[in-house]
Amino acid sequence: MPTFSVDALVLAAGKGTRMYSNVPKVLHKVCGSSLLARTISSVSKAKLENLHVVVGHEAELVKAALDKIGVELGLSINPIVQTEQNGTGHAVQVAMPDLSSDAVLILPGDVPLLEAETLASLVEKYNSSKADIAFLTFCLDDPAQFGRVLRDESGQVQLIREAKDCSDSEIKINELNSGIYLINRELLGRCLGSLNTDNAQGELYLTDVIEMAVKEGKTVEAHIVEDAEQLAGANNQLELAELEREAFLRNIRRHQLAGLRAQAPEQTFVEEGVSFGKDCYLASGVQISAGSKIGDNVSIESGAVIKNSSIGSGSTIKAGSYVVDSTVGPDCNLGPYAHLRPGSVLESDVKVGNFVEVKKSTLKSGAKAGHLSYLGDAVLGERTNVGAGTITCNYDGENKHQTIVGEDSFIGSNTCLVAPVQLGDKSYVGAGSAITKDVPGGALAVARSRQTNKENWKK
Ligand code: UD1
Ligand code: MG
Repeated sequence: MPTFSVDALVLAAGKGTRMYSNVPKVLHKVCGSSLLARTISSVSKAKLENLHVVVGHEAELVKAALDKIGVELGLSINPIVQTEQNGTGHAVQVAMPDLSSDAVLILPGDVPLLEAETLASLVEKYNSSKADIAFLTFCLDDPAQFGRVLRDESGQVQLIREAKDCSDSEIKINELNSGIYLINRELLGRCLGSLNTDNAQGELYLTDVIEMAVKEGKTVEAHIVEDAEQLAGANNQLELAELEREAFLRNIRRHQLAGLRAQAPEQTFVEEGVSFGKDCYLASGVQISAGSKIGDNVSIESGAVIKNSSIGSGSTIKAGSYVVDSTVGPDCNLGPYAHLRPGSVLESDVKVGNFVEVKKSTLKSGAKAGHLSYLGDAVLGERTNVGAGTITCNYDGENKHQTIVGEDSFIGSNTCLVAPVQLGDKSYVGAGSAITKDVPGGALAVARSRQTNKENWKK
């Protein structure tokens, strides 16, 4: 925690032209959450919570996203509109009237791998060297379009030169500007007043503040970050995919170090905010989205997708299953190729086999639907067994209706349960029945035409 007050200012007004997308760049996603949400989350984790975000391109969309991020992270975020995007220096000029702290942390809105510890190290550098400006730099063998950090013979930072303005020798410099700075607010305000557009892009460059401060004799410190990927932003879909791959890898490694067994970590896609118990196993190609909770001893086979759902201890999710907004209790057996749609609850020791689709239904403990069924708006009692091909006809063309089956019941294969309909405990249904009326507990219902055999028909 800094001993001085800090305003955090995220720059997110740019269009992201090279994404060739209708979605503003900062709202593109990495591992299920937007570049902007991930950036703000790292600022919030560093306890720099006096948060302002400059918006411009598609301002309304970005503001709406900020409202959601604020609620999710429990933060109040001040959006500042930059109507025309005349450069990073202009973005900060527009924001200055809203800032009142001792220092301003400025960062771009598209750094999804940035860690709170790295921001803390910047604050520490500023603090310990009594700097007027501290900023983060990194080194790359192929420095691409990043601003170059120019130092004098003694190693003192002199200025930042944008790639497009570099001379032939300057362009070879591989220490680069991350775009993340902590700057004394009064100094910043003064320097911003003297910016000009005398550069290759005709923009107001925030980076020019560095040279101005050095010329004023201020202390400017560059803090080199070894883990360059943390500072990487995405300017196109290729870079975005690379960042996402890296984010998934970093996330799964954290889980592996905490005991998760993964068959092919580089082919396993676990979003942030997923929790695992002990001794879980993920096969190749598994995807688990944020908000999911996996118990102990859960095995998830190839290609399964789990979104915002919880899986109880001892359960197995077999290959190709798709689980959304559902709760699977302990010791259940799902798939291969089972589909749990929103609102499905499997209590304990439930089996939902191949090509079974369940929607907004509860399967109580010990219930089984082994093959090729559709169970929608249904409740199956404890230990009830549903034969292959059974369908709940829950929709009459206008409304959805419920099917309720008691415990210890047995539904023969290829049965249609036409809802609304209720079957009592220990009820039986003959295979191939179309059940349109309630069945009392203990009864056998048969609702199909009798078989007739025509002797010698072939002749
Ligand atoms: C900037 C830096 C460069 C650094 C790089 C790191 C300048 C002049 N250059 O270049 O030294 O190496 O970041 O990624 O600052 N934005 C606004 N309003 C504007 C313009 C930009 O809000 O008018 C926002 C963008 O949405 C983006 C951030 O500022 O989040 C950086 O802008 P961008 O155009 O990406 O700057 P770079 O050319 O990458
Ligand atoms: Mg950029």
